Amino acid sequence: MRKPIIAGNWKMYKTFEEAIQFVEAVQDKLPSNDNVDAVICAPALFLPTLVQIASESELAIGAQTMHYENEGAFTGEISPAQLASVAVDYVILGHSERREYYNETDEAINKKVAAALSHNIVPIICCGETLQEREAGTTEQKVAGQITAALAGFAAQDVEHMVLAYEPIWAIGTGKTATAEDANQVCGAIRAVVEKLYDTATAQAVRIQYGGSVKPDNIEELLSKEHIDGALVGGASLQAESYLKLLEAAA
Ligand code: G3H
Repeated sequence: MRKPIIAGNWKMYKTFEEAIQFVEAVQDKLPSNDNVDAVICAPALFLPTLVQIASESELAIGAQTMHYENEGAFTGEISPAQLASVAVDYVILGHSERREYYNETDEAINKKVAAALSHNIVPIICCGETLQEREAGTTEQKVAGQITAALAGFAAQDVEHMVLAYEPIWAIGTGKTATAEDANQVCGAIRAVVEKLYDTATAQAVRIQYGGSVKPDNIEELLSKEHIDGALVGGASLQAESYLKLLEAAA
């Protein structure tokens, strides 16, 4: 059985004070991490403080992106070594917003995955299709290409500890969720890609999240599906109450 993982992606929301208030509000109410992994991926500026506040709780803190180099003249970027130095546990890589607005390529994502692993940071690797691609029937082809590129060069024992996230771009922040059946079908296709690249054991071990307008009222149905092992959540992770409901549904 794969343990569910619910990761909140706060994107560019919350002030410092609001972020602290959120972590303080949820940290004593989290379900045991024997049952579910609870992660919040916060703006980089807040990470050291949130890691410190959450250190006694079951809440893990993640970043939303990072560079693949450990240091260098890359103004405004944050390195894997820097994230590791403040004990960040997870990093989202290849989110569609990073791919679209910051030209994050499959090749860069592959390097970032390697950099994350070298610092024991768990990568949450995103993939997903546009509405146009869905309508053209090329969804599975698109996500297979993204996942194959992200995993290039890694051994099975690396892959089984990664988290993959299927996020149809047309469902992000729009209120339109993929049906649980459609989401499960694509997550199953991603698992089949991992099986083809590695083996059945690795495919069965890797966790695959769904993301795109996940809310307390649709998470149970999504998580009841065979291949959906959790959620990557934007909007509904911003309020402590709804984030806790998502975790309770998964626990
Ligand atoms: O990373 C999270 C996704 O972009 C989903 O965002 O839950 O607001 O649709 P959303």
